[in-house]
Amino acid sequence: MAQLWGGRFTKETDKDVYLFNASIGFDKRLYAEDIAGSIAHASMLAAQGIISAGEKDSIVNGLEKIKEGIESGELKITEEYEDIHSFVEAKLTEMIGDPGKKLHTGRSRNDQVALDMKLYIRREIRETDELLKDMLKALLSIMEDNTGTYMPGFTHMQKAQPVTLAHHIGAYFEMFKRDRERLSSVLERSSTCPLGAGALAGTTYPLDREMTAKALGFNGPTLNSMDSVSDRDYLVEYLDALALIMMHLSRFSEEIICWNSNEYHFVEIDDAYSTGSSIMPQKKNPDIAELVRGKTGRVYGALFSMLTVLKGIPLAYNKDMQEDKEMSFDAIDTVKECLVMFTGMISTMRFNKEAMELSAKKGFTNATDAADYLVKKGMPFRDAHSVIGRLVLACIEKGKSIDEMDLSELKEICPEFDEDIYEAVSMETCVERRLTAGAPGRQEMEKVINIYRGYLARDII
Ligand code: ARG
Repeated sequence: MAQLWGGRFTKETDKDVYLFNASIGFDKRLYAEDIAGSIAHASMLAAQGIISAGEKDSIVNGLEKIKEGIESGELKITEEYEDIHSFVEAKLTEMIGDPGKKLHTGRSRNDQVALDMKLYIRREIRETDELLKDMLKALLSIMEDNTGTYMPGFTHMQKAQPVTLAHHIGAYFEMFKRDRERLSSVLERSSTCPLGAGALAGTTYPLDREMTAKALGFNGPTLNSMDSVSDRDYLVEYLDALALIMMHLSRFSEEIICWNSNEYHFVEIDDAYSTGSSIMPQKKNPDIAELVRGKTGRVYGALFSMLTVLKGIPLAYNKDMQEDKEMSFDAIDTVKECLVMFTGMISTMRFNKEAMELSAKKGFTNATDAADYLVKKGMPFRDAHSVIGRLVLACIEKGKSIDEMDLSELKEICPEFDEDIYEAVSMETCVERRLTAGAPGRQEMEKVINIYRGYLARDII
């Protein structure tokens, strides 16, 4: 048991209490942020004449060696320390002696952990953004190849109107694009530095908080020391952004699972991203998509857990806040893993274009266009709607699609039908005439694809 405190205690902490209280088992992943914060703090202490230049040099050297040691595996982060902050400080003092004991001057673990978490989340936001960008590139490439791949668009899981695969995938492009915007705004709101807030009330040392904030990549220091040590809003917002990413991935997974079923057969997931059954030799299961859909639950759980942890905490730091880590870390790891898996799965998935087009043809997805045909001939839309309703019924009875009906059969339903009806209800006409902004017609789709190309060429974070 190695602790940073003990002077006022007359007895050792109970062993189980110590373990219950300790966080090193999970906060060790903050070592790089902890060391970066300490280097900035020590440099500032020297610049302000609070420690000497020599002391600063040996602290910075020692901290850099600790980082190298951890990364090379030479220095093991062992669990007899209470947390990562205690570990780093103890190792530093072991290594360089007295100057190590000066590192914590004008600092508390409260502002230290607030800083570490914020730095860590800022790094993770950037990494999540990179992974989203990779996914968007994969989506764009599918879109580019499929502006002419017709498929049914659905509402209520019923075939509705024909769209293209590019258009369908474009809907997901929009969702993940919004996710990136959300991340960027969370990053923006987490751009002030809590270091220097002390335990809660600042400090009497003449700290230069502007200097440490800049050195650590923030825009400036936070403006209220009590808020600084108890604020985890940025984490809640990040978890919220992660929950939305998972919601989008989960909806997409659900569609892929349907599309990959024997009934749809719209896609075939690559062997490398499918799994078999131990009993049924014919099976090729979409486990990756199912797992992504399933893992959405734990990410939502982390968001809800964080909101609940925070809701009863009075100002300022309270130990409850240590509960900001485990579930958040799990959520972050989960989302990153899901994004990598999902991008791999969709980049290798094959689209069965014929099955998609056939399905669009078979489902009366051109019924609205058939009604519009009659409207163009002068019939009010409501009447046309009813005529086509009767036509669909007749088609179902005959087991035909609208374009498979003879002109005489069509005329029997409504004498307004002419030879040009076939062109008017062809898949191509139905899709390509839809040219309103955001619609699936090829010309419009190409415009949007171009916008997406430009968007992916820029970094937004
Ligand atoms: N392990 C603690 C946490 O994660 C570090 C801060 C401890 N501060 C304190 N006063 N006990 O929140």
